[in-house]
Amino acid sequence: MTFIQNAWYVAAQSRDVSAQTPLARWVIDQPLVLFRDGKGAPFALADTCPHRMAPLSMGVLSDGCIQCPYHGLRFDSAGACINNPHGDGRIPDRAKVRSYPAVEKYGVIWVWMGAADSADPAVVPHFPFMDDSEFYVAMGEMVIDGNYQLENDNILDLSHIEFVHPMFSSPAVSAGVVSHEIDGEIVWSRRDIHNDEHPPQFIREVFHVPEGPVDRWLYVSWQAPSYLSLEAGGMAVGAAREQAMTSMQVHWFTPETHQRTRYYYGNSLPKFVGPEGQAIVNSSCAALRPPFEFEDKPLVEAQQMRIGDRNLLHENPIVLNIDAAGMAARRLIQLRLEQEAQSLGDAQI
Ligand code: FES
Ligand SMILES: [Fe+2]
Repeated sequence: MTFIQNAWYVAAQSRDVSAQTPLARWVIDQPLVLFRDGKGAPFALADTCPHRMAPLSMGVLSDGCIQCPYHGLRFDSAGACINNPHGDGRIPDRAKVRSYPAVEKYGVIWVWMGAADSADPAVVPHFPFMDDSEFYVAMGEMVIDGNYQLENDNILDLSHIEFVHPMFSSPAVSAGVVSHEIDGEIVWSRRDIHNDEHPPQFIREVFHVPEGPVDRWLYVSWQAPSYLSLEAGGMAVGAAREQAMTSMQVHWFTPETHQRTRYYYGNSLPKFVGPEGQAIVNSSCAALRPPFEFEDKPLVEAQQMRIGDRNLLHENPIVLNIDAAGMAARRLIQLRLEQEAQSLGDAQI
């Protein structure tokens, strides 16, 4: 198993990366150390000293450089060794560490895991509703002991609500129509729930429908490798769609290793809602966590325990119609992996 290399991955939330304390993170099986220079610019280096392989993240930062904790070699933000405190101080040619292009956007640090000269900040995935200049934004994260593709499957599969999240369910949810669509490299998964006579009370509150039947929907869009948005909407039956309340969420999954994923979840409200918007998004973001932490996460981790280091699709699983969106995402990932393997092969010829 391998990972898409030519992609921007979320390595950390902006608030966790500083000029004082190095942050250790894994992205697609590679250990990284993240930090900022004195001007606040973020940097990502390989987190392995080229001398005796000590993690640089255990070292100290000063003036935008990191000093190895073991014998004090010092590396600048580009990964070049700039000080050897031993012997004649000569710096060996190979005393450098890989530097990964890093971009700060939407409250997180994105790192490019492919060749540095192919990194294009313009192709950082677009999530304009997470831009804090126009929206109140909140975000949380957790670590899942499972492969990131199980997480893609989980969010793209809107059929599991009634079984895993009974709190969100009702007879109308069970009768809801699940559909999917492939639009270029985007996969859509939708569940339209019509004429819900008995929605959970909090649904009425979120969508401002105090009484009467409700039409509601969940629309997920996915892009490779594992960056999803989810629109949840609701309105009184017969109301104009344009006037419906909607809530936008992100579900971003960064593979740390083949069996561990860092999950970033977040949501936003446009700033025109007024200054109470930040408190509202903070509390709705906090409310996003328990269903995933206590309902989805145990299942995904239990799946991973069963799958172990095998490839799910090589186990010949049965495929139901509800798997269509997840399978489409898996095919698009496989296509990207094959394209990268092909171009690597071409480069070596
Ligand atoms: S292991 Fe880093 S300087 Fe020796
Ligand atoms: Fe779920």
